[in-house]
Amino acid sequence: MTSEPQASTAEDRLKGLHERLGGIAYGGDYNPEQWPRDVWLEDARLMQEAGVNLVTLAVFSWSRLETSDGVYDFGWLDDVMDLMHRHGIGVDLATPDAVPPAWLTQQHPDIHPVLADGTTFGFGSRQHFDVSHPVYRRKALALAERMGEHYAKHPALRMWHVGNEYGPLSYGPWADKAFRGWLQQKYSSLEDLNQAWSTDVWGQVYSDWSQVGVPAQPRTWSNPSRRLDFHRFTSASMLDHYTAVRDILRRHTPDLPIVTNFMRFYKTNDYWAWAAEEDAAALDIYPDPREADSHVAAALNFDLMRSLRNGQPWMVMEQATGAVSQWPINVSKLPGKMRLGSYQAIAQGSDGILFFQWRQARGGTERYHSAMVGHAGPITRIFREVCELGTELKSLAGLTGTRSSAKVAIVFDWDCWWALELGNSPRSDLNYAQEVLRLYRPLFDANVTVDFVDTKRDLSQYSLVLMPAAYLLTDESARRFEDYVSDGGRLVVSYLSGIVDESNTIRLGGYPGALRNVLGAWSEEMHPLAGDGEEVKLTLSDGGTASAGYWTEHLHTDGADVLASYASGRLAGAPAVTRNAFGRGSAVYLSARVDATFLSALLDAECKAAGVHPELDGPRGVQVRRRAGKGKRFLFMLNHNDAPASVNVGGGGTDLLTGHPVQGAVELPPSGVLVLEENSVEDTRLEDRRTADAATNDTTR
Ligand code: GLA
Repeated sequence: MTSEPQASTAEDRLKGLHERLGGIAYGGDYNPEQWPRDVWLEDARLMQEAGVNLVTLAVFSWSRLETSDGVYDFGWLDDVMDLMHRHGIGVDLATPDAVPPAWLTQQHPDIHPVLADGTTFGFGSRQHFDVSHPVYRRKALALAERMGEHYAKHPALRMWHVGNEYGPLSYGPWADKAFRGWLQQKYSSLEDLNQAWSTDVWGQVYSDWSQVGVPAQPRTWSNPSRRLDFHRFTSASMLDHYTAVRDILRRHTPDLPIVTNFMRFYKTNDYWAWAAEEDAAALDIYPDPREADSHVAAALNFDLMRSLRNGQPWMVMEQATGAVSQWPINVSKLPGKMRLGSYQAIAQGSDGILFFQWRQARGGTERYHSAMVGHAGPITRIFREVCELGTELKSLAGLTGTRSSAKVAIVFDWDCWWALELGNSPRSDLNYAQEVLRLYRPLFDANVTVDFVDTKRDLSQYSLVLMPAAYLLTDESARRFEDYVSDGGRLVVSYLSGIVDESNTIRLGGYPGALRNVLGAWSEEMHPLAGDGEEVKLTLSDGGTASAGYWTEHLHTDGADVLASYASGRLAGAPAVTRNAFGRGSAVYLSARVDATFLSALLDAECKAAGVHPELDGPRGVQVRRRAGKGKRFLFMLNHNDAPASVNVGGGGTDLLTGHPVQGAVELPPSGVLVLEENSVEDTRLEDRRTADAATNDTTR
């Protein structure tokens, strides 16, 4: 990876961005090349009406910016940039390398990515490149250089957007060569690789480096260690391309933020590694309006974005005003839901609300995807809502740069994700994101703010850490979690954690090998339950009952207390859930997927014991979050219910959306939002909380 030329810090660059934008970024992808010039003028006027202060240009414009090899045409983009500037609208300029043009792939058809089965993707969509192809890399960098040089001083330029949703794995010849080179860097010798990949299993021993390559479609199952390394390689090689583009742009514009856009629950790229190379995390988020609780998975992704750069504000880079067009059934958002989702993102640390896209296309693949201005023009409900939100957001300028704090962390780690879902395991339907969501949901419902951490993070700031299916732990990570508990932390570990080492090799001596010491418990056998809803009963140590499904284990205690035992099925009588006192802390082990009621009660008890409190007690379905900084504190209340909800805001403050003072009981309409600048930063409730925390920490940490 290249080293980033330093001028200002990411924080300085973001501060500069929001100062120039006058607050929260608001706008969307703008594709003027799809429209005649008279529409551009109307666009600029309507953008002003909607309060837009930032548009993303050129995401898919390579074929219009480099019309044939080395022939650049920036004239039209200059005109659009000038137009934006004249209307006071900033530009987030994209490098369009997600779409290598037809002339380029015609010259070099092997730029197209190859699937594991040898099929090659054809031209006609996007992300149709193998990032290891040297000509693709060279041409993409050359274009970035030209754009950096040409636009560095343009007064509309506010930030850069590198590529778009970095994507596909390729199993083609260029990836093959690059993968081999990456492995040669990683392993000191071929023997080292043979050991790490357990190649003696099924006689896969390599005798020369030239035999080692991408894990193309095998006859049956393939080597999980090899495939894990291939995932690591793919993420790293795409990131390497990103950082090369970034470094070019940074040289031309040292004080402007540079980002790329992430996706929801996106497995291909390790976003911890990626976010470290960006100025801000930026997310494309498309919750499905058909799912009543889609805001919960969205919340998880928002908290992940907030955590990726250690609490630094992030941006919604894309969302829909109404329906998307990529699913089998594309349902539009109900009135008020786009606004609610936007405030949810802001409550969870976003300083930008952008859409895909400004004007709904009349042709091409996404012509049915909603936009800020739809096919009917600006005379619609959606455009009214867009304008109203744009006006409201102006009153939130003081929020930018503020942060949230959490005392609970949940582990989210791409190595764990890749290793868990590689198959050849006791069940093939393991879904890492759903395992994380399962432990996240009760805390979301209880309005307990959480951070996410990877397995390498220092945990000392947290009172409680949850570890859902953290399947792969290095020796060093395992030691860090153990030290965290021994120093007084509380840990909750679910099944399928700590099973394999760095090479995806099983840790011996009883599952979960990396954690059996701290858990004071170990399993001799995994017993997944049948997929047809099979359940077992549990007896709780307080005499209550619960149930479990999907996953169970034949668990033994080795010092831990039993919190729940299997009461039916083949493991009847054996421990199911345990808690181990370890050093000054404790570690809970869930050997089974326990039911939601028991899980909530267990996590509630852990929170209380750890001195962790909800942001505010509110009715179910009302999300409460806080952001603070610059001597101010902001309280967000978001009613995700379809019915009104009454909440008590205590000492209260100023409602930033109306400018009116608010205190005590407040009624939120369905999908209603309250953003309060709290009267007293050091209010008594917070003081009470601090005192209680200090007292609990004395006993629990
Ligand atoms: C992604 C892409 C956009 C658009 C949207 C549609 O996020 O980046 O170009 O296709 O999906 O929802």
